[in-house]
Amino acid sequence: MKKMAAFGYAQVLVLLAIACMVTVCQGQAETIVVGGSENWRFGFNYTDWALKRAPFYINDTLVFRYDPPSNTTPAAHSVYLLPNLWSYLTCDLRWAKLLANSTQGSGDGFAFVLSQWRVYYFASGEGNKLNDCRVGGMKFFAIPLPRRRRA
Ligand SMILES: *[C@@H]1O[C@H](CO)[C@@H](O)[C@H](O)[C@H]1NC(C)=O
Ligand SMILES: *[C@@H]1O[C@H](CO)[C@@H](O)[C@H](O)[C@H]1NC(C)=O
Ligand SMILES: *[C@@H]1O[C@H](CO)[C@@H](O)[C@H](O)[C@H]1NC(C)=O
Repeated sequence: MKKMAAFGYAQVLVLLAIACMVTVCQGQAETIVVGGSENWRFGFNYTDWALKRAPFYINDTLVFRYDPPSNTTPAAHSVYLLPNLWSYLTCDLRWAKLLANSTQGSGDGFAFVLSQWRVYYFASGEGNKLNDCRVGGMKFFAIPLPRRRRA
């Protein structure tokens, strides 16, 4: 059943992409704070957030905001780019690329541009036994669509 749902979503994306190239999607690249006012934290379903926030467009910027570990907030977070769907599903970070460590989400946050038409899989690599990703919901994927440039 999960597979069916994923296929349906992929079809919608293809339709959106086509609609996009034909006419509808014009405008400027956006800056999007991951999780909105929840920022990047343990215990929020980012897969769900990303599905609801979609579509993303090529050259949109994702901003990950999280506090560095301290006495008051001991839990650290980070941002990894995962290589494929399997690593995303299983929270396998062995071949993942560190994008932002535990201190780089402070202040204005860590900014990442979705510069290519591909699937981006993100996850936090922190927590005992990778619990941020496995239990804490801190993973999602985004497929930025092409957006016609304003003439
Ligand atoms: C998070 O949201 C996704 C998409 O809505 C859903 O499939 C998944 O079961 C949710 N995960 C948890 C742990 O609730
Ligand atoms: C994204 O930005 C780069 C660098 O500014 C630009 O060369 C490229 O054409 C842009 N891509 C799209 C799809 O707008
Ligand atoms: C995180 O990365 C920054 C920039 O590369 C570096 O200055 C800092 O020492 C790193 N922090 C940790 C905890 O690794």
